[in-house]
Amino acid sequence: MKSDIMTDQTSKLIHDGSEYELPVVRGSENETALDISKLRAKTGLITYDPGYANTGSCKSAITFINGEEGILHYRGYPIEQLAERSTFLETSWLLIHGELPTREELDGFTETITRHTMLHENFRGFFGALPKNAHPMPVTAATVGALSTFYQEAETEESIRQTIVRLLAKFPTIAAWAYKHSIGQPFIYPNNNLDYPSNFLNMMFSTPCEDYEVDPVVARALDMLLILHADHEQNCSTSTVRMVGSSQANLYASISAGISALWGRLHGGANQKVIEMLDAIAERGESAEDFVARAKDRDNPARLMGFGHRVYKNYDPRAKVLKQACTDVVEALGSSSQQLEIAMKLEEIALNDEFFIERRLFPNVDFYSGVIYKAIGIPVNMFTVMFAMGRMSGWIAQWLEMRRDPNFRIGRPRQVYTGPTRRDYVPVDQR
Ligand code: ACO
Repeated sequence: MKSDIMTDQTSKLIHDGSEYELPVVRGSENETALDISKLRAKTGLITYDPGYANTGSCKSAITFINGEEGILHYRGYPIEQLAERSTFLETSWLLIHGELPTREELDGFTETITRHTMLHENFRGFFGALPKNAHPMPVTAATVGALSTFYQEAETEESIRQTIVRLLAKFPTIAAWAYKHSIGQPFIYPNNNLDYPSNFLNMMFSTPCEDYEVDPVVARALDMLLILHADHEQNCSTSTVRMVGSSQANLYASISAGISALWGRLHGGANQKVIEMLDAIAERGESAEDFVARAKDRDNPARLMGFGHRVYKNYDPRAKVLKQACTDVVEALGSSSQQLEIAMKLEEIALNDEFFIERRLFPNVDFYSGVIYKAIGIPVNMFTVMFAMGRMSGWIAQWLEMRRDPNFRIGRPRQVYTGPTRRDYVPVDQR
């Protein structure tokens, strides 16, 4: 069967005096690619592409990014419209099912998610076994992995549907409990009368002695942050989820691996690094100009965290939405934010600086997200966990898409070997 992305075009490769034709494939937004799936069989060659920067690892109908123009769509819908008008649960449905839900579907989905938020009581002991100062990110990765020990049913369409509900429903509880564990406070159970973001905020900030009153501005800002982080096509953590899932590992295990991939400071950990950078600048009393000068200096390890992106060579559309939201939240809470002021100054300087212009380095989603999290009281070590909460729906959608692809194969890249050529073993005393 001819693939839906195949075109009649081919490109020619000349190697060692022989000519080979490589099919050209095209996606719905006219992105073209060379199909090299038969390259090695035909020519003996493989491709060399460190960091997979030019490699399309799959075809996908979920998220479209045009990094040159700063465009991001989920299932065709612009991120700006979803951020302004949708909710995280509606957007999750969209990502997972491909279409916006009807009113009945959305109500049913919301009801089901709301009713599956509790964790098995044994998890209290599981959390208790971890050190008190454990970073919440590995705690959540371990807990999501451990969920698979509680739900060991055979993989069927129905069990996958239940797994999806459990992951989306229980993750806020896992995240809040990871935080409560880290500060030694009692766990707060989910409250079915609250919506998705408010329930999470309540589990984070209520105590048995004092109820936390959820500010609707804060709940809305959090929901919007979740939408903005929900998917971003084949980034490091999503590719990890697909890679692990390609061995037919279950969804819990695949997503646990994705959470670990997201932890790194070049990926999800960047917003924590942004806040640390802003705080350090404030503490040193350093001017924004001086810091930008250090970030440009190749002999200095400083980098302008939250700037630059592998894909976006233009303003990240999510950063644009967040910059406005940041100002709104800070204003609504009636607080001032030194971090926001420094961030805006850094941005202004960098956007007018030749170094950043030449390299097309713009603010990415992490530049402002940390400032909002701080303003609404989320501690820095929870930032990446918040990212994972949003990305959950994207990871699920990508995993499902891969597993339902009739052509799916286990992920297994090749390499260009650079080690020693064949040599004979020498016993230790003769070396
Ligand atoms: N500050 C200063 N210089 C930078 C920055 C930065 N934030 N980002 C890139 N550069 C420079 C590099 O030093 C390099 O300069 P050179 O050409 O003189 O060697 C050039 O710009 C290209 O940068 P690379 O690191 O090669 O770009 P790459 O696509 O590999 O990396 C990355 C992208 C990792 C995001 C990078 O821009 C970076 O480290 N940014 C800061 C960390 C960050 O914000 N990460 C979050 C990414 S978004 C996300 O994961 C959700």
